[in-house]
Amino acid sequence: MQAIDIEGASRKSTVLVGERLQQLGRYLPAGRTVIITDENVLRFHGKEFPAFPVLRIGTGEGVKTLDTVRGLYQSLVALEADRSTFLVGIGGGIVCDVAGFTAATFMRGLRFGFVATTLLAQVDASVGGKNGVNLEGYKNLVGSFSQPEFVLCDLQFLRTLPEPEVVNGMAEIAKHAMIADAAMFAFIEANADRALALDPPVVERLVRDSVRIKGAVVDRDEHEAGERRMLNFGHTFGHALEKAGRFSHGEAVSIGMALAAAISVRRGRLSAAACDRILRLFKLLHLPCAASIDLRRLADAIRRDKKRAGDTIHYVLLDDIGKAAVEEIGIDELMRLASDFPDIIRNAS
Ligand SMILES: NC(=O)c1ccc[n+]([C@@H]2O[C@H](COP(=O)([O-])OP(=O)(O)OC[C@H]3O[C@@H](n4cnc5c(N)ncnc54)[C@H](O)[C@@H]3O)[C@@H](O)[C@H]2O)c1
Ligand SMILES: [Zn+2]
Repeated sequence: MQAIDIEGASRKSTVLVGERLQQLGRYLPAGRTVIITDENVLRFHGKEFPAFPVLRIGTGEGVKTLDTVRGLYQSLVALEADRSTFLVGIGGGIVCDVAGFTAATFMRGLRFGFVATTLLAQVDASVGGKNGVNLEGYKNLVGSFSQPEFVLCDLQFLRTLPEPEVVNGMAEIAKHAMIADAAMFAFIEANADRALALDPPVVERLVRDSVRIKGAVVDRDEHEAGERRMLNFGHTFGHALEKAGRFSHGEAVSIGMALAAAISVRRGRLSAAACDRILRLFKLLHLPCAASIDLRRLADAIRRDKKRAGDTIHYVLLDDIGKAAVEEIGIDELMRLASDFPDIIRNAS
C-alpha cells in the first residue's frame, strides 16, 4: 500500500493505492457515515460494504444530473444527516463526481472520501478535487472544486470490471506516461500484456504513477489556470470524437492522443521515432489510433468545447515522450492540421 498526498488549496487529500475496502474504517472520523454507490457496484460488491446506510444511484452518464443530486439531498434529509455526517462515494467516476458534488454542496459542504472502483476512477476521476454533473447536454457544466479527504484505490475491485472499462483506464494511464514520465512509458512498453491482464503488481505501479503525476500537476495548479491543462492531452479531439461519433472515452482519447503526437511531429516538436513508439504502444495496449468521422461534425463539436477561449484552443502537444507543451492554436488551423492525417482521422462525410 502506498499513500500519496495531494495538497489542494482547501484541504489535503490522501490517495491510498492498494488499500483494501475492509480498512475503510481506519480513515473515517467518529460519527455517522453514509455511502453513495451505484447499482452495479452494489450488485458486485455490496456484500463487502461496511454496515452504513447506502444511497444508490443508477448507472451511465445520464444519471450525472442535478435531479440525481436532488434525490441524494432528499435521502440525506430523510436520514437526518447533519454537518457532521461523512459521505463515502464507492464507485467509478460517475459515483465520485456525483457524490463529491453532493458532499460539496449539501449544508454548504460535508466531509467526504472515495473508494474508487474502476481503473479510470483510480487513475483519474477520483484524483484532483473536481466534481460535477452534466447540464443541457454539456458534460460537467455544473460542479465544484473540493478535495476528498481520502481516496482508497482497492485493486481487488478491478477484477469485476468489464473489458471496455479497462480500455478507458489504460488510455489515461498511457496519457500520464506520455505527458510526464518517460520511465513509466518504458515500463508500460515492457509490461503491456500484464497491464491488460490487470496483473496486480503491474497495475499497482501504474495506478501509483498515475496518481503521483496527476496529483503533482493538481498541487501546482488546482484550478486549471495553466499547467493542469496538460492533463487535457488527447482530449480536445477526444471529447469531440466522443460527441460526434460512437467511441468510448478511452477510444476517443487514444485517437486524440495519436493525432496530437502526429501534429507534434509536424510542428517540429516531437521526433518521428518517438511518435512511432507511441503508436506502437497503443497497439500493444489495444488502444485505437484511427477513426472515420465527418470532419464538419467534428469541427462543430470542438467549437462547442467549454474549455475553448474564443476561436483558439489551448492544445496539448509533446516535445518528447514524457514532456508536454501547450500551444494556443486557432480552431480552423487545428482542423486543417487534423485533415492532414487521414490515416488517423479519415473524413467520412
Ligand atoms: N472529476 C474528474 O476529475 C473526472 C476525471 C475523469 C473522468 N471523470 C468522469 O468520470 C466518469 C467516467 O468514470 P468511469 O469510467 O469510472 O465510469 P462509471 O462510473 O460509469 O463506471 C463504469 C461502469 O462500471 C461499473 N462499475 C464500477 N465499478 C465496477 C466494478 N468494480 N466492477 C464492475 N463494474 C463496475 C459502473 O456501474 C459503470 O457501469 C465520467 O462521467 C467523467 O466525466 C471525472
Ligand atoms: Zn479522460
